[in-house]
This record gives sequence, structure tokens and C-alpha cells, in this order.
Amino acid sequence: MAIEMKNKVFSLETANTLYQMKVDEYGVLYHLWYGAKTGCCMDYRLDYPDVGFSGNIPEAGNCRTYSLDTLPLEYAASGVSDFRVPAISVTHADGSTALDLRFESARVVEGKYSIEGLPAVYADEKDAQTLEIVLKDVASELRVVLLYGVLAKEDVITRSVRVENRGDQEVVLDRVHSMCLDLPYGDWDWVHFHGRHTMERQVERLPIAHGIQESGSRRGTSSHQQNPTVLLCESDCTEQSGVCIGAALMYSGGFQAQVEKDQMEQVRLVMGIHPDTFAWTLAPGEHFNAPEVILSCSTQGLARLSQQFHHVIRHHVCRGEYQLSKRPVLINNWEATYFDFNEEKIYHIAKQAAELGIDMMVLDDGWFGKRDDDVSGLGDWFVNENKMKGGLKALIERVNGLGMKFGIWFEPEMVSEDSDLYRAHPEWAIQVPGRAPARSRYQLVLDFSRPEVVDYLYERMSTILRENHIEYVKWDMNRSICDWYTATLPAARQKEMPHRYVLGLYALLERLTSEFPHVLFEGCSGGGGRFDAGMMYYCPQIWCSDDTDAFERTMIQYGTSFFYPISTVGSHVSAVPNHQTGRITSIDTRGVVAMAGSFGYELDLNRLSDEEKQAVAEQVKTYKKHQPLIYDGKYYRLTDPFAGELAAWQWTAQDGSEALVQGVVFRTRPNTLRRCLKLTGLEAGARYRVEGTEAVYTAEALMNGGILLPRTSGDNQPFTYHFVKEA
Ligand code: GLA
Repeated sequence: MAIEMKNKVFSLETANTLYQMKVDEYGVLYHLWYGAKTGCCMDYRLDYPDVGFSGNIPEAGNCRTYSLDTLPLEYAASGVSDFRVPAISVTHADGSTALDLRFESARVVEGKYSIEGLPAVYADEKDAQTLEIVLKDVASELRVVLLYGVLAKEDVITRSVRVENRGDQEVVLDRVHSMCLDLPYGDWDWVHFHGRHTMERQVERLPIAHGIQESGSRRGTSSHQQNPTVLLCESDCTEQSGVCIGAALMYSGGFQAQVEKDQMEQVRLVMGIHPDTFAWTLAPGEHFNAPEVILSCSTQGLARLSQQFHHVIRHHVCRGEYQLSKRPVLINNWEATYFDFNEEKIYHIAKQAAELGIDMMVLDDGWFGKRDDDVSGLGDWFVNENKMKGGLKALIERVNGLGMKFGIWFEPEMVSEDSDLYRAHPEWAIQVPGRAPARSRYQLVLDFSRPEVVDYLYERMSTILRENHIEYVKWDMNRSICDWYTATLPAARQKEMPHRYVLGLYALLERLTSEFPHVLFEGCSGGGGRFDAGMMYYCPQIWCSDDTDAFERTMIQYGTSFFYPISTVGSHVSAVPNHQTGRITSIDTRGVVAMAGSFGYELDLNRLSDEEKQAVAEQVKTYKKHQPLIYDGKYYRLTDPFAGELAAWQWTAQDGSEALVQGVVFRTRPNTLRRCLKLTGLEAGARYRVEGTEAVYTAEALMNGGILLPRTSGDNQPFTYHFVKEA
């Protein structure tokens, strides 16, 4: 039984963890434990100090030691006597803001709940259970329903919240976070993933300081600048040992994650939609669903935690025909041509690619409207026949004739002022009347909170997909959103718009992905600006970064790997000197780095030397051979590329039968020192042969003594070892 309810103690058990809560005599729901299985009720760790200025609930009478301000709470509300960061804040019809939530009821349901209009983890009924706990405000008819999905085998607990107004007056929700987690003991660090365009998911691990630290996005998207994922780990936690907890918000709009160390040295994490760009009016009888958070805990370090997230996202978040199957190796023309192409040039690139074994040609930005640079044309999703003689059909037929699939780029949420769409519907662009809107990459954002806008995009995109043999769509989104205003909402409800925008986006994605199940959708937002588990529900792969430089990518992909499966990481070999950094790396280095993802190319292969073309053909073969291991194997980070002189990573087959180790030595120094790289996660007692050689090592040798890396010459030198278990 994954969920047990006994004496008002709720125990959520997964294969290796226990999550526990308890209702006390006042109906307050405590958080007791998230960690190793203990086989016992963890309430013995609670104590009740008399702390000055931490007040007491009315029913406690003159007892000075019962305070919401010092107890670990399961879902903290604001305006009453807990003064830490709240999970929920509301404004009642009389303007008051107190919310005092007490237990009302609970029930267990077989299967995993889903959330209307929002992406959520899914599972077969036999593989998951749901716990629903209803809390009620003491002085109003507002109910907060806490939802827990327990995927025991995955070591995953999902959380979401539904707020129900069962009263007879409006209530404004000012903040509804998807989770709250109080950790009353321990010495914790937090890890967050920050960055910027072309430099996403840089890793920062910091001891939690007193007060509040926060990561978040007010950009209308989950953003390049901070990713909607947070790790809490005990200060001695490493890749291989120690306790860590991960939280990934399944949401593609603005988010907030706050970590607070309080006066009692306790840690609280809250996470959900960013309250600065949110408010929601609940009329009597209405309810609001918060997006889901995926939670997982490992007592065996960060590698194990990442593997748990990889598995659950791959098997219970991603969907569609390409969820678990092989993906086509693609070639994208963006860095090869930018806007300067016609059908002949694209065909020429495709032809060379087909000869080298590449499976799919992706036509990027510039095939539609008047789109010869990035100043105009967005919104006009009609093929530009001046540029593309014979339209898409003729080109697709020729590309298909090479034995290749064909894919195409869209940026559905955007509009250029110089476009027919904008001229016809200026009111569809997000802007405040009387204020000039900020442009970003010269473009404006369409108001996806309006159903007619979403319908229009559906009509355009589905027509193109129906009329042409398109097997892949790159869904781009190239700016942050501001100047929020929509004529469709009254003044008092304008702050609903950012969330309504995200709901509109998900509605369109849902319609298109279900109507075109054979199409592979790849997410993108100037690279990895919307790289989140919400998008992965629709797009099993996302372009990881507009930075294709192999050296930089080792860091971006390292940060990305903490939560996201390797199969989701769009990764391409591009030209040198690299267009983002000017750095020159060898074709082999670029190949090794791009293989740690959904592999492809983004350059004009016709410009390569014969040796390089030969290398490309080999890479494509190697990738196709290892793709099952890369997608389904257990992934390990062997080094921290931010800290050391090399990046190295490993996949081990689930059954231990093989392992692939790849990496890049960043610099060669004179009189090179020897370098041994320790492997991990091999089958104890087994012997492994290095493929293509006579060398056989024991797993113990490889994991304790390591492999001797070859001497390098020059910078950014790649290495690859494929180990196969001896019979
Ligand atoms: C974004 C994407 C790129 C490319 C361009 C096209 O920057 O991340 O891959 O598609 O847009 O304009």
C-alpha cells in the first residue's frame, strides 16, 4: 500500500522513501518527514518551544508553546500567525487577508489525478495512487485541496493544489503555490539553475542563508535566466551519497521558488506560479488548479536523484509516438543559411546530409510571409513562394525523394508589426492602450489568453500540417513578455492574463499534438528559454541552447542533466569558428558533445572536407548504435565541468551489460600529468571489455582505479569508451 492513513497520520511510501504528514488536535496539518523509509511515525521529532513574538492559535488558549510560526506545516497560509513565506495568500470580499486552514477530510483514490487544462504526470491506474486532503478556512467556505500522486516504483510524489470557493462571495487568490515543504532539521544547501540566452542552466549550489532566497521568472515563460527546478541537498551530499530532494515545476510560465531559513533554523521551500504576475478571482462555486510539482528524494546522492527524474519525465511526462522510440538524426538549416536560402539551397544541404546517413531535413525560420530578416513576417504563416518556388510541397517531395523526412519551424505566439496579421488584428498583440509596447527581437507577442487567437493559429498550423507531409515541428518562442493587458478581462482581473496565456498555449499544443500524433514536436525558446517539464508533456525534445559551442555545451548540458532526461536535450554539431563564441573545436569534439542528447547537425555539410564528411557519417552510425543506451541508460556525471579541467559523463545500461563513457579534456598543459577517470554504476563483480580492443577490466578496477585517459594535444580533446560486459 503506497498510501496509508492511520490516526490522522498520512504516510506516502515509495520504493525507497517516505513522505509523512499528520493532523493534530487542532486540525493543523504538519509536515513530518520526507526522506529514507523509517517504518515509524516521525512526530517524536516535533517540539513546542515558547518563542517570543511567535503567537499562538486561538484554541491553544494561554498555552504559549503552540505556534504556527515554529511548526513544520504542510501548506502554509498567510495572514495568520505563521510569518514565514506562505504557500497561499488570498483577499476576501471584505478586504481581509487572513486564511487559517484546518483539516476537513481525506481520501485515497486509485490511479494518478490529472489536472484540467494543465500538463501533469500520468500513470496506469495500477502504478499510482492519489491522496486528496481537504483543508478548510476556519472563517469562510474556502477549501484548499492538496493533491498527492504517488508513483511508488519511480520514487516520485507529485503535488498540486485546487482551491475551491464554496462561499457566496468572490475571493481573490494572490498566490497559490503548488507546494510547500518544511524541513525542520538538517544542514541544507540549495541548488538552482541560472543563466542567460545562450548560457542556460548554469549550476549554483549555495548553503541556505537565513532569510529568503529565491529563484524565479517574471518573464511570462519559465526562462533562460532561472529554471523552474530546485534541489535541496544536505551539505555533505555528493553525486554518489547523501540526501537530496528535487522539485520540478511542470509549468512554462513565470514561476517562483523561495527557500527560507527561519528563526529556528528550519528550511521551507515553496514553489509555484510567480505571484508578481498572477492573481485570480474565484467567483462563488469556482475553483482554481495550480500546476503540478514533481518531487523526488534520493538518499544515495545526486546521480540517483537525476536518474529518478529522467525516468519519470521520460515515462510519465513525455507522450506521443516519439516518447520512447528512436528519434531521427536531423539537419537544421538555421546556422547554415540564416534567412538567406531558397528551395535549391535547402535541397542541396539535404542531399549531402542524406548521403551521410542523416534522417531528416528541418527548414528553420524564414520560409513564410515577408521574412527575409527578423524584422517582419511573424504571424503570416503562408509559404513565401518567391523564395520557395513550388511552395513547401515541391521541396518536401524532393527531400522525401532522398529518403529523408521533412520538418519545419514555427513561432506561433509571435507577431511582427510589419505583417499582414498585425495590420488586420493589431488588437491581438499584447500591449497596453496608450502605451507603446516594448519590442524584443523587433517582435510583439500575441494574446494567447484570447481563444480566437489560439483558434486562428490552430487553423493556420493544422492546415499547413494537413496539406504537407511534415513529420516534425520546431515550436519556437523568442522573447520575454511584458506590457500585460487584454481587453477581454475587466480591470480588476488583468493579473489573470499571464496564466491564461499559458493555458492558451497548452490548449493549442494539446490540439495539435493529438491531431498530429505522427509529428515530432521539438520545443524551443531562443534555445532553452522554455526548457521545462510542462513543455515536455507536448514536446519530447527541446532545443537546449542557441549556443552550439562544444565547450560551452558541456556546461549547459551538465546543468540540464540534473532534472531532464538526455532524450529531451536537442543538441547539434555546428560549424567552426562557432557562431556564438568564435571558438574552434574539432568535428570529433562537436560530435561527442552533441551525442549527449537528441542528435543533429546545423551547418552546411557541403562546406566540410572529405575527412570531416567521413567523420560525420561515422558519427551518425555511432549515434544510431548507442541511441538506446543514451536514452534509456542510467546517466552519471563523472566530473563537474565548472570546477575542473574536463567534462565526463557515462551511461550504464539498466541491466549493466554495457556502458558508454564520453567527455572532453578542456586544456592540454605542457608535460601533461596523468589523468585517471573513475567510472561508476557498473555491475559489481562483472568484467568489462573496451570495445574494439583486447583490454578487459573488472568493474571494481574501473570504479576505484579508473581508466587512464589518453594524452592530449591541443584544447577540447574528446574521448569515448564503450565497455561491454564479458559473458
Ligand atoms: C531562435 C532559435 C534558433 C532559430 C532562430 C530562428 O533563436 O533558438 O534555433 O530557430 O530562433 O529565428
